[in-house]
Amino acid sequence: MDNEGVFYRQLPKVELHAHLNGSVSSQTIEKLIRQKPHLDIDHSTTAIGKGQQRTLDECFEVFKVIHKLVDTEEDVLMVTTDVIKEFAADGVKYLELRSTPREVKDTGLTKKSYIETVIKAIQQCKNEGVDIDVRFLVAIDRRNGTEVAMETVKLAEEFMLSSDGLVVGLDLSGDPSVGHGKDLLPALQRAKNCGLKLSLHLSEVPSQLEESDLLLNLPPDRIGHGTFFHPEVGGSQSLVDKVVKNNIPLELCLTSNVKGQTVPCYVKHHFKYWYQLGHPSVICTDDKGVFSTDLSQEYQLAASTFGLSRKDVWKLSQQAIDCIFAPEDVKQQLKQKWNDLHTQVFK
Ligand code: IMP
Ligand code: ZN
Repeated sequence: MDNEGVFYRQLPKVELHAHLNGSVSSQTIEKLIRQKPHLDIDHSTTAIGKGQQRTLDECFEVFKVIHKLVDTEEDVLMVTTDVIKEFAADGVKYLELRSTPREVKDTGLTKKSYIETVIKAIQQCKNEGVDIDVRFLVAIDRRNGTEVAMETVKLAEEFMLSSDGLVVGLDLSGDPSVGHGKDLLPALQRAKNCGLKLSLHLSEVPSQLEESDLLLNLPPDRIGHGTFFHPEVGGSQSLVDKVVKNNIPLELCLTSNVKGQTVPCYVKHHFKYWYQLGHPSVICTDDKGVFSTDLSQEYQLAASTFGLSRKDVWKLSQQAIDCIFAPEDVKQQLKQKWNDLHTQVFK
């Protein structure tokens, strides 16, 4: 690894937008494929390599293939453990993983055991002393409609109370071209009222101004992507104003957006717009496995594309601490950690 690479790896980082099954590395996929030869899955269908692009629809096909490979409690335990250790090895000190609880009748996996297993993996990593604080957001797949959303919120609520602070919030994700946010509003409102933090994928594709406006009224605690909020890309000043007024941090995923073709190229990524405004913007991976990246690469990419100095990059990673969903004492511990590591990173 060159000098630049070492700096970005050593930089302590916060990852706030990582979908569990999208984060499964190629090594773990190899293990799963070996365990399930009967599925006859070709490895090239589970990731989008360097320089490759896919439409967003094609990206969602990739998740379906990974879901076929991850269909038992043992699989969920293995992928969660591997993903956590990979983020830790990449210098991530605080990670919020998110995942959609899935039921698989054939293997006995239930939504409840799915969440329990993710929590078990988090606890096991903690007991092993892996140097990373991991929390979990239960995800709603927007495609599944009102009832499933409400059922998911109830599960999340239950685990928020019983997981020793590990379940901190709720994510709204899934194919943005399917379903409408208004159907999910009661579930999201309930989640908010019971103390779950909300991170919502909003305006990931164009023409969702009405939905974004509606859901911004909640308001959410963080926003995933927000690619089409600003007027230059067909959004509106009033959406931008709402985000700014409520100071809602954005989770920004450069490689994901370019490979998924919602952003034409890196220099046109909306990171520039929000960063110039001085708005809290957190660099994230989205799906490090599917998009063949890691958080160090994403920071390096943001720096080289937008001309950030090492000092700017440090500030960016440090400011992400204020956007986490874990409570204040965790923020203080992380800030202390950043202070302790500063000399070593800048030596
Ligand atoms: P899982 O929830 O752990 O199974 O992770 C994969 C799921 O995350 C997908 O099926 C989608 O619902 C969601 N997801 C991953 N990436 C994106 C994205 O870029 N936009 C919206 N949803 C996404
Ligand atoms: Zn996402």
